Amino acid sequence: MTNDFEIDRCVCFNLRFAELQQKLEGRPSSMDQIARRFGCGSCCGLCRPYIARMLETGETVFNEVLRADDADDGVAGGDARRA
Ligand code: FES
Repeated sequence: MTNDFEIDRCVCFNLRFAELQQKLEGRPSSMDQIARRFGCGSCCGLCRPYIARMLETGETVFNEVLRADDADDGVAGGDARRA
């Protein structure tokens, strides 16, 4: 069964995760750095778990609802997950 919705952007700043990933150019970035540079995650915060997943896996389109608990403020490539 597939979900019939796609989550692909920070709605508050209208920035697609794919564009954000390109802007990061593979540089390790934390959620706070992304919020300061691009705004994403600094308003309603609903995009934070998706950005965290993007940093972790490279995915930019999601067909599932991620909860705030799924957010990881760590650095891409690092293992900063909370226990
Ligand atoms: S959706 Fe990204 S801050 Fe609201």
